[in-house]
Amino acid sequence: METIHPITVHFPVALLITAFFVETLALLAGKPNWHRVALWTLTLGALAAAAAVWTGRQAMAAAKHSFEIYQVMELHENLGYVVLSLAVLVAGWRLWARDRLSVKSRWIAWALLGSACGIMAFSAHLGGRLVYEFGVGGVYGRSGGIEVR
Ligand code: HEM
Repeated sequence: METIHPITVHFPVALLITAFFVETLALLAGKPNWHRVALWTLTLGALAAAAAVWTGRQAMAAAKHSFEIYQVMELHENLGYVVLSLAVLVAGWRLWARDRLSVKSRWIAWALLGSACGIMAFSAHLGGRLVYEFGVGGVYGRSGGIEVR
């Protein structure tokens, strides 16, 4: 492992998806306190996404490149920026409004967070391809790993 990116990526994945599920339950069950739990989980998730983007940029600088690898890595990078932007936007909006949103605004924030989670899932899949298919940043995939005799 050449960077700490693989360590940091678990936090936005776990926190943003948890925030989305708790927010869904809060909206469906009408539990005001659960909105607060979802907001703090989302805020931590946004901070964790910033850490993942920061360490991802270091991982990219250290990674070996072919054109094929670069194409997947660039898409993974850009989707990472989209996830971070959406998470910061929704967390910032809710914090700025002191989480006193109308029901309609809550559903809009929910949809934006759900989109961030969906994009993150696809982007994480691309990150997994980088490691396990192309052997970027590790000893798996084409360029190393289990020795075949
Ligand atoms: C929310 C943001 C991000 C998430 C959730 C994320 C997630 C992931 C995941 C799950 C992996 C596979 C790790 C493994 O299986 O060991 C990965 C690998 C990778 N990601 Fe990201 N990533 C994010 C942002 C970025 C950004 C912005 C870049 C580049 C600027 C980047 C560059 C890489 C690279 C180069 C790898 C290959 C492994 C390594 O060298 O560490 N990532 N990412």
